[in-house]
Amino acid sequence: MDIVKGKRVGIVGAGNVGSTVAYSLAVQGACHEIILRDNKVDIAKGKALDMSQAAQSIRSHTVVSVAETMAELKDCDIVVVTAGSPRLPGMSRDDLLLTNAKIMKEVSLGIKEYSPNAIIVVVSNPLDAMVYVAQKVTGFERNRVIGMAGVLDSARMAHFIHEELGYGSGQIRASVMGGHGDDMVPLPRYSTVAGVPLTDLLSDEKIAEIVERTRKGGAEIVAYLKSGSAYYAPGKATSIMVDAILRDTKQIHPTAVMLDGEYGYENVVSGVPTMLGANGGEKVIEVSLDLREQRAFQTSVSSVQSLIDTLEKNNFFGDSE
Ligand code: 2OP
Repeated sequence: MDIVKGKRVGIVGAGNVGSTVAYSLAVQGACHEIILRDNKVDIAKGKALDMSQAAQSIRSHTVVSVAETMAELKDCDIVVVTAGSPRLPGMSRDDLLLTNAKIMKEVSLGIKEYSPNAIIVVVSNPLDAMVYVAQKVTGFERNRVIGMAGVLDSARMAHFIHEELGYGSGQIRASVMGGHGDDMVPLPRYSTVAGVPLTDLLSDEKIAEIVERTRKGGAEIVAYLKSGSAYYAPGKATSIMVDAILRDTKQIHPTAVMLDGEYGYENVVSGVPTMLGANGGEKVIEVSLDLREQRAFQTSVSSVQSLIDTLEKNNFFGDSE
């Protein structure tokens, strides 16, 4: 039986991150339909059945199904892309560049063809470069191609702040900007616990340790898991962004977007506070950065730029630009 059309979220890549996004949305009843697309069709079918049953158990109206081809992933309102090789111990996110860029290109072209009005939420790594690829390949307006990283990195920083303080869990607002790489820019000046500035609660030394641990937060988990990277926090962070778009919340979340003059950069992707709503990344918010923060942001933007340069040197975009 065909499912009556309601809000439809496609998820390309039903591995650990993709299926955690799907599960989180399903049990929250965030949308009418979630469609999983993965080359491992049977695994996707098993997960879809399992999640649909979980949704029924809590009387959620969300149904999870499977697209066997990109052509079946049609008319989605949002498509989340998690497809790509994950990080293994010793690998940086950047090591995945060329392999995942090819996957991202193929998937993006499929989305453009079969879900031409979708908003794309990129999760694959290296994140900022993958957002760049998806935007260039589809030619979608920049608000329709956004990346998940800052929500995750801020959550990691919040956890580390709690570990250090020993109190305040659930009241921490941590703030991280920049690319989703080892030189991301945690912003202690914009981080608070129940409204109290972090800088009033911890010494400079402790804060510096938290900044460093946040930057390496993904690798810390990869080192434990050995065969892949984190998925609960990345999955939940992605579902928060999808939910903000579905419900048109107009709330601000750190988001990877193509910059168009903001913070003095253009034609490069980085993580910045962004208002999310029905049209995706609807407005980039410019916060004031002191000299040190500006320099850190510049370093982070430069490393994303060098990945983009590598893609361009390899003639990756060919005639699709
Ligand atoms: C992370 O930071 C996989 O990039 C993801 O865990």
